[in-house]
This record gives sequence, structure tokens and C-alpha cells, in this order.
Amino acid sequence: MLVTGGAGFIGANFVHHTLRHHPEYEVGVLDLLTYAGNRNSLRTVADQIELHQGDICDAALVDRLVARSDLVVHFAAESHVDNSLSDPEPFVRSNLVGTFTLLEAVRRHGARLHHISTDEVFGDLALDTTDRFTETTPYDPSSPYSATKAGSDMLVRAWVRSYGIHASLSNCANNYGPLQHVEKFVPRQVTNVLTGARPKLYGGGVNVREWTHVDDHNSAVHLILERGRPGETYLIGSGDERSNRQIVEMVLELMGLPRDDYDRVPDRPGHDLRYANDTTKIRTELGWRPRFADLRQGLAATVDWYRENEWWWRPGKELTESRYRRAGR
Ligand code: NAD
Ligand code: DAU
Repeated sequence: MLVTGGAGFIGANFVHHTLRHHPEYEVGVLDLLTYAGNRNSLRTVADQIELHQGDICDAALVDRLVARSDLVVHFAAESHVDNSLSDPEPFVRSNLVGTFTLLEAVRRHGARLHHISTDEVFGDLALDTTDRFTETTPYDPSSPYSATKAGSDMLVRAWVRSYGIHASLSNCANNYGPLQHVEKFVPRQVTNVLTGARPKLYGGGVNVREWTHVDDHNSAVHLILERGRPGETYLIGSGDERSNRQIVEMVLELMGLPRDDYDRVPDRPGHDLRYANDTTKIRTELGWRPRFADLRQGLAATVDWYRENEWWWRPGKELTESRYRRAGR
């Protein structure tokens, strides 16, 4: 199995999950180790995997690694919406050209591909409805990030239809858990508190996300690898929708601070209002169930992880906050 982006948040958790629960796989990782990739996330399993530092846009390298793999699980991407607003170029490169490069290698060598995507490709939902995205919701991305992810999904579908490659896709909701970069919402607030700063809430904090534990995302991916149908798309999500304000208040409470001890900062341009996935297909077809049903418990464990692993997140914290300061957030 070749895992692209295996030194990033979800990819590294996927590598750990795979080694723990699926010892039948030999795992190779291809990761450029951008600012978001962290070799330390794989430190405890370094002797059980092959880690290749390299670019998914490097056709020769990708060809060589895919030729040796039966299966490619493709997590590698530029993943942060705010960064895509300030500098979209790396998103076009890694998310579109990188996925194209992998698809061509998969086509040449007949490997199977699972492409990791996001609910953001569908755009957003109104706050005052109970509507949910389904596998057939038309794509309507809002940000440079989600537009490049939507484009990468389209490339995968076209390679399935036109070249008959064996590929599947999944679009997951927001993930939380250990090993997530401090630029993202939950770790930013937790590490702000741990460094004596206040959490930062964009706009009115009314935007809603569906919070899914990273291990639940990864167990769903494994089910798709085992039982998913070729060419199919599966939506993944816990069903637990919360406003950003609710999450900040929960984090503050879990960390022993008053629930209103946060700053409001200017909103993200084009900020998607609400995401929510209808997961009937993966639940009924593959029998997937999230194990982390209690968000509060999952967040408490995540807070503990950041408390206990300052060595892991501290080096990136100041640079991340200086980026946010430049953006006024
Ligand atoms: P991340 O930013 O933490 O990790 C991305 C990894 O990809 C990093 O290790 C980085 O070094 C690597 N990478 C980036 N460009 C590369 C390139 N050109 N070549 C090789 N490696 C490269 O991201 P994440 O949050 O773990 O997301 C992983 C995947 O899951 C992405 O495809 C993202 O779109 C998708 N996704 C994320 C979430 C979420 O909540 N974080 C939810 C749904 C889907
Ligand atoms: O829905 C899946 C997507 O979730 C993934 O495709 C993306 O890769 C991932 O980054 C995430 O995107 P979001 O934009 O939803 O996540 P982010 O962590 O950046 O922000 C979550 C919400 O919190 C969003 O509404 C913006 C808000 N926010 C974020 C930060 C960093 C704040 O209010 N304050 C903050 O400091």
C-alpha cells in the first residue's frame, strides 16, 4: 500500500491505524513534508514503513513507487482553506497536477486507487435547514481549496470512466483528533489556550461543521478498501453538527476557562455556512458506524493529547500565528 500524504494529519493517523489493525499491508509513504507534513508523526513506526520524501507531481518518482504498489491511498493535498485564499498556486499544483500524475501512474501499472476528498466540494448548505449532501449532490465549491479538490475528484471519475482504472472516492466531513496541524480550528484554539492566548472565532461563530474523529474517518476508508464497489463514491461523517461558537465554548470549558474567554476576529472571505453529509450509503452498504459517538469525550481526549505533546506542535505554532496575524485573523 502506498499512502500519499502519510505524514499529514489524517494520513499519519491512517498509517498508525493500518499498522495496528491491518498487519497484512506493507506500508510505503510518499510525502513532500511541506509545512503541514511532520516526520515526527511517524516516528514511532519509522522502522515498520518506507518513508519517501517526494512530490506527487514528480512523475518519475510516482511511477517508480506506484509500479511497486497494488494499492494507493491518496491523502496528499494542500488542505487549508485560509492558505488557499492567500496563495492558491500550490493548491492547483498539488491537488490537481499531483492527482493527475498519480492517475497516470495508476493507469500504467493497474494499481487500485482510493482518493480522499472532502464535503467542501459540494459548497455549503443553509443554516436553517436540515438538508444534507448526498453522493449525487452537484459540485459547487466556494474556495480555491475546495475547487481544486472538486477538480481532483472529477479527474478520478474521468479516469474511471474513460480508462477503466479501479478507483473509489470518499468525501468526509471535518476531522479532529491527534496530530492535526495547529493552523486548523480545534488545535489552534487548544494550543492558544496552552500558550496563554485567547481562542479566535471567525465572524459570529454561527458557521456549522460536522465533526468526525479521524479514527472514524480511517475505519471508513478501510471498509471501502475491503468492501467498497469500484468506481463508487462514499460520504463519511459523524452526524454531529456544531456551530464554531459551540466548539470554542466546549474547548474552553474542557480546559477549565470561562466559556466566553475568546476573541472575535474578522470572518473568512466566502466562508461556507454549513456542511452536513448524508451517510446512509456507507452505513447501509458497508455497515460503517462511528466509534467516537460522544464529541465531548473525543475533544477531551484531543485536548489531553495536545497538553501531553507540546514537543510535537510547539515548533510550528509561532509561524502559524504570524500568518494569521498578517491575515488579520
Ligand atoms: P494535512 O495538510 O495535514 O496533510 C497533507 C499532507 O500532504 C502533508 O503531509 C503534506 O506534506 C503532504 N503533501 C502536500 N502536498 C504534497 C505534494 N505535492 N506531494 C506529496 N505530499 C504532499 O491534510 P489533512 O487534514 O491530513 O488532509 C488529508 C486529506 O484529507 C486531504 O486530501 C484533504 O483534502 C482531505 N480531507 C481533510 C479533512 C480534514 O478535516 N482535515 C476532511 C475531509 C477530507
Ligand atoms: O469539511 C472538511 C474540511 O474541513 C477539509 O476538507 C479541510 O481540509 C479542513 O481544513 C476543514 O476545512 P474548514 O475550513 O472547515 O476547517 P478549519 O479548521 O479551517 O475551520 C473550521 C471552522 O472554524 C471554519 O468555519 C472556520 C472556523 N475558524 C477557523 C479557524 C482556524 C474559526 O472560527 N477560527 C479559527 O481560528
